[in-house]
Amino acid sequence: MSTVITHIGELHTQDPARGTEAVLHDAAVIIEGERISWLGSSTQAPDADEQFDAGGRAVLPGWVDSHTHLVFAGDRTAEFEARMAGQSYQAGGIAVTTGATREASDYELTRMLLARVAEAAAGGTTYLETKTGYGLDVEQEARSARIASTVVDEVTYLGAHLVPDGIDADAYTDLVCGDMLTAVRPYVQWADVFCERGAFNEEQSRRVLAACRDAGLGLRVHGNQLGEGPGVRLAVEFGAASVDHVNYLSDDDVAALAGTWAGWDRASGTGERGTVATCLPACDLSTRQPLAPGRQLLDAGAEIALASNCNPGTSFTSSMNFCVTTAVLQMGLSVQEAVRAATYGGALALGRHVGRDADGQRAVGSIAVGHRADLHLLNAPSATHLAYRPGMPLTAAVWRAGVGLAGRG
Ligand code: NIG
Repeated sequence: MSTVITHIGELHTQDPARGTEAVLHDAAVIIEGERISWLGSSTQAPDADEQFDAGGRAVLPGWVDSHTHLVFAGDRTAEFEARMAGQSYQAGGIAVTTGATREASDYELTRMLLARVAEAAAGGTTYLETKTGYGLDVEQEARSARIASTVVDEVTYLGAHLVPDGIDADAYTDLVCGDMLTAVRPYVQWADVFCERGAFNEEQSRRVLAACRDAGLGLRVHGNQLGEGPGVRLAVEFGAASVDHVNYLSDDDVAALAGTWAGWDRASGTGERGTVATCLPACDLSTRQPLAPGRQLLDAGAEIALASNCNPGTSFTSSMNFCVTTAVLQMGLSVQEAVRAATYGGALALGRHVGRDADGQRAVGSIAVGHRADLHLLNAPSATHLAYRPGMPLTAAVWRAGVGLAGRG
């Protein structure tokens, strides 16, 4: 089965191989099964089984949301209200969600996760990572990982999210590096650690990262969210795929992140990749933290991603449109830079910017022949409208792996 989408006013391929031709005008794309089989000028588009007329509107790659915490139960509205009344965010709120999550049945957790993923897809998200981290014991972390693995694209083990009350931090770290890791391992591709005051210190974080690396997991770090600290340094030292939050960066942190991309050719997307700095603007607003310095990171030569950080404590939204809007209006990114960070940048943070022959997975986050057919049609003639018309419902239709998910208007 093939579908040709014609009369695309602006086609944002985000394909580095296309260089300055990365945005096509009056373009067409052909979807064949789960993959893109052709793209080019609308006037030269070959026939397909089905035709969809984009009517001059813009098409982007589906959003790649590389940082979420979607396996949870319970509500933290009261904590949010207290924060809006002047209290600061405390990592301890994680325990409230952990209590509610442990109480929920597998059926309830799965149903809520499916609903959250559907909500994200309706907003243009076609590739999604999510983390454990609201179980915090062996059985519950393994359960979260198992449930997540049945629903989302990539699962991250975050047993090192908070030290549960009444447990010695070093003893809990041993558990995270030992039995808990063994129990979650069949379900996860990544591991993460919340390296922050009130969560895991440098030495504990280092132990978690080393154990998870030795278990064959890719690494990511929650770092420099609430103050300067060792998170970025550790992420760079361990060659983590990403360090996320990055609100409080010293000049050395920025230079270290940029340095990881010294062997990378940003223009062509080739060479030796480094550690992506993942900015989470919705979380920064909801916690009233300074916005991550995305502009400074890009200017220094680092690669950045934008992600929603959807979770019940610090960022209860999966709207990547909102993140892109905020990145343009508040973080000083151009529309092109923000769209790239929320598509190709997210794929880079998950190692999915290229296909993987070993498991037959197609590249995501960019539109090119052979890549997964993940497309986001905007109800607007250009991507600029994401910033120009903040908060408007601009997602008109979404295809995930070639399947129409949301809207076809
Ligand atoms: O990414 N920073 C740590 N983890 C989440 C918040 C989790 C929570 O408060 O429930 C975050 O912001």
